[in-house]
Amino acid sequence: MRNIEEKPKRRVKKKTLASSADRHELYELAVQCAEAEVDFVDDEFESLRGRKARFLKEDFCGSAQVCSEWVTRRSSNQAIGVDLDNDVMTWGTDRHISNLQAAQKKRVKLVCENVLTQSSLGQDIILAMNFSYWIFKQRSTLKKYFKQALKNLSSDGVFFLDCFGGSDSYRVTKEKTDIGDFKYIWDQASYNAVTGDFQCYIHFQFPDRSKIQKAFSYDWRLWSLPEIQEVLLESGFSDVRVYAQPGDEDASEEMVPVRQIDPDLAWIAYIAALK
Ligand SMILES: C[S@@+](CC[C@H](N)C(=O)[O-])C[C@H]1O[C@@H](n2cnc3c(N)ncnc32)[C@H](O)[C@@H]1O
Repeated sequence: MRNIEEKPKRRVKKKTLASSADRHELYELAVQCAEAEVDFVDDEFESLRGRKARFLKEDFCGSAQVCSEWVTRRSSNQAIGVDLDNDVMTWGTDRHISNLQAAQKKRVKLVCENVLTQSSLGQDIILAMNFSYWIFKQRSTLKKYFKQALKNLSSDGVFFLDCFGGSDSYRVTKEKTDIGDFKYIWDQASYNAVTGDFQCYIHFQFPDRSKIQKAFSYDWRLWSLPEIQEVLLESGFSDVRVYAQPGDEDASEEMVPVRQIDPDLAWIAYIAALK
C-alpha cells in the first residue's frame, strides 16, 4: 500500500476590506468634490472677467475629475489635464473619461508631463487644487511654476489655487473622518519650523479594522497665505484675490472674497491670481 503523505494545511489568507479597496476611489470619495470646484471657478471667472470661460487646464490633475466635469458643462468647453503619474491618469480615463459622451471625450486631453515646463497656451482657467503645488519647496521653484502658469493663460486668464492654514496646521496630529463605509485619516506626521518641511499621509480604515496605511504621501512645504500671494505678484500676476467661508454662524459654506481670516485652528482658502 502506498503511503500517502498528508499535505500540510495551507493557511488561507482572509480577504480584508482594505485588500479589495481601490485607493483612488476612496480618495475621490473622501477628498475631492469636482462639481463644487468647477462651480466655483466657472462663476468666479465670469464675475471677474465678464465672460464665460472655455479653456480649462487642470494641473496636478490626478484622475482628471475636474477635466471630465468641465466638458459636461458646455459644449464649447475644452479641458487639458497634466500630471506626472501615468497610472492615476489611466485610472481616471477608465473611471471618468470613458463615461463621457463621444463628443465630450474629444474635448479632453490628458498629458503626462511636469507642470513646471508643460506648455499649452491660451487657457482661460488654470487650477492647482488640493495644495498640490506645495510639492515645490523652494521659492525659486514655486516662482518658476507660477510663471509657467501665467504664460499658459489667455490674456484675461485666471489661475485658481487653494491653501490651508491655522494653528492646527503646525501640529503633528491625526484627524479621522467617517465617510460611511470607511474612515479617512489625515496624518500630519512632521513639521520642521526651520525649513517649513511638512510630511503628511492619507490612511484609510475599514469596519473590519483593516487599513490602507500611507495610501497617499505628501512631502510638502507648508506655505503661508501671504507668501503665496507675494510670489504670485512677483511672478507677474496683476492682482490676487482670496476667498474663504465667512466666519458668522448662519453663513453658507460658499467661498466669498475676504480681506481677513480670523486666527482659527484651521481654515481653507481659495486664491484667484489674475493675468
Ligand atoms: C494631491 S494630488 C492632486 C489630485 C487632484 N488634482 C486633487 O485635486 O485632488 C497631486 C498630484 O500631483 C502630481 N504631481 C506631483 N508633482 C507634479 C509635477 N511636477 N507635475 C505634474 N504633476 C505632478 C502627482 O502625481 C499627483 O497625482
